[in-house]
Formats: sequence, structure tokens, C-alpha cells
Amino acid sequence: MDTFGRIVDYLRISVTDRCNERCVYCMPEGYKGWEQKADHLTAEEIVQVVRVAAGMGFRKFRLTGGEPLVRRDLQEIVQAITKIPGVACVGLSTNGTKLAGLAQPLRDAGLRTVNISLDALDAAIYHRVTGGRVADVLAGIRAALAAGFERVKLNAVLMRGVNEQELWPLVLFAAEHGLPLRLIELMPVTTTEVLTEGNFFSVAEAMELLAERDELLAQPRAQIGWGPAKYYRLRHTGALVGFIGGMTDLHFCESCNKMRLTADGKIRPCLGDHGELDLREMLRGSKPDEAVREVLETALARKPLGHSFRDQFKPCRPMTAIGG
Ligand code: 5AD
Ligand code: SF4
Repeated sequence: MDTFGRIVDYLRISVTDRCNERCVYCMPEGYKGWEQKADHLTAEEIVQVVRVAAGMGFRKFRLTGGEPLVRRDLQEIVQAITKIPGVACVGLSTNGTKLAGLAQPLRDAGLRTVNISLDALDAAIYHRVTGGRVADVLAGIRAALAAGFERVKLNAVLMRGVNEQELWPLVLFAAEHGLPLRLIELMPVTTTEVLTEGNFFSVAEAMELLAERDELLAQPRAQIGWGPAKYYRLRHTGALVGFIGGMTDLHFCESCNKMRLTADGKIRPCLGDHGELDLREMLRGSKPDEAVREVLETALARKPLGHSFRDQFKPCRPMTAIGG
């Protein structure tokens, strides 16, 4: 429990700051701030953090990046952490482009759930947002479905004038494949000014847009996964759509259950707050588990009541470095 009475039992672990895509909302153009590979936590160090966190009551773990699938020992990491006592579930957040060949091996290694970013179905729009090929993601989604994960979800970041007209096709795609779709408000987590008055598209507006075509039925009790989405079932299409109003939902942080571990070994109690504590020095210094636990507990005690995104937040590190 943190100082505000929230149960924090979810750790998101960035395994790399590298990515094979260049999403406009995540990575600044011409980004040069890459971490040294030597600064990335090793598989053993990640396993130690998970062991200690599980001992403190953390139950849910998600591997993120950057793009976690660019890390070659990901399968090993999954295999090791899913065996740790207390670890209830390990999930993955990915752009999906490399999933076609990796879904089955990761499932076999013990991975239970996968969240796949899909901001548009139209190939040109997808490319404009991410620099990648939507066909690769679609192949990844098919592979994930075939591999038998317990849950596969889709994520789209909302951007006015960019993927607004893609929302309905995404809803139909999600319904057709029985996949929950989460629509996420753009947050100021990259060092270039991608978040402007002009391109911010709120979840309220997205709901209005969908309501023009279908009826949205609130699912107040739907808890699909561990995130902050509020879910609605679309009456006619049957799609399950979650709305993540990080910027406009004033109650957003009240039920926050997570902390983050960056690829270079910093514990970050809140995405929208600059506070970080260094764990890597502990791990490299071969400190015992108790010392690592102390840092995690200090981080938990410093978890702020809420993010600072509405207070002219100036990100120091882009999302790709912090972990999605
Ligand atoms: N705003 C909102 N969501 C973002 N993500 C990455 N950058 C941003 C941003 N600036 C999302 C990705 C991915 C998840 C891990 O984080 O779309 O689905
Ligand atoms: Fe890569 Fe994900 Fe960032 Fe896009 S959002 S650049 S896929 S890490």
C-alpha cells in the first residue's frame, strides 16, 4: 500500500529503450538520447528486481520498452520471472511488428497476456504515425491469437486530424476479432511538442464520435487487465472499448496501482512525475535483496498523489526511455 492507501501491486518493466518504430507521440524526431546498452539491466538483474518486488506483494508484471521484442533474451526473462513465487501474471506491451515469429515461443515461455499498439488500420496513416508497416502488426495479431494468450488487447493513441477517421474501422476490427480496444489520450511524454491544442482528442470526443454510429453501454464492473481504462460495450457491433483519459479524467490517479522500472534501472513511481530512484547501482553492487527492497519501498512511499501532466509538464525523458 502507498501513503494514499492505494494498493500498488503492478510493476511495468522496460527491458530496452530501443525501438524499431518511430511513433510521433513517443520518440522525438532524430532522437539521440539513447542509453548505453551497458546501462540496461541484465536479465539476471531484472529477475532479482521481480523476485524482491514479488516478495513485497507485487503480483502483476508487464514487460515494455521501447519495443521489448527487440531484446534478444526476452524469452529467457519471461521464463525466469513467470516461475518466481508470488508472480501471478506476466504481460507484454508491444508494437506487434515482430510478434509474428515470437508469439508462440513467448506463450510457451509463460507469457499470459499481450497488449498491441494499433493506431490505424490504413497503411498510409499507420506509417505516418509510427514509421512502420501495418501488415506486420496484423500478422503479429494473428500470431498472438493463434498462440492462445489469455488476453490480447489493442491500444490506439487518439490524435485529432491524424487517426480520428480510423477509430470506427478500429472498432469494427476489434469486434470482428473479439479483442478489447483501448483508446488513449495523448500525454506529454516526449520531449518534442507533439501534444498541441490542435491534435489533442479527448476520450469524451471519441465517445461522441462512436455514439454517432452505435450505442455505448457502460460496463462499470468490467476490469479487463490491470489498467485505468473505463469500458463500454457497443450494443450493435459488440465491440468492447476502453477509454483511457489520462489528461481529462480528474479521478485518473485515484486507483493507480503501478510503478515503473526503466530500462536503465531507475524506479519511477509515476509516469507523470520526474521522481526516480536508482536501483542499478544497488544491483551492480551485488547488494542483497533487502537493500533492493529498501529502494522499492522508498519509491512506493514517494509515489505522488497524482501526475503533473496538467501543470505544463515538461518531460525530461521520452516515453521510449521511461517505458510505455
Ligand atoms: N501518449 C499516450 N500514450 C502513449 N503511448 C506511447 N506514447 C504515448 C503518449 N505520448 C502508448 C503506446 C502504447 C503504450 C505502451 O503507450 O501507444 O500503446
Ligand atoms: Fe516504439 Fe512503442 Fe514508442 Fe512507438 S510507442 S516508438 S512502438 S516504443
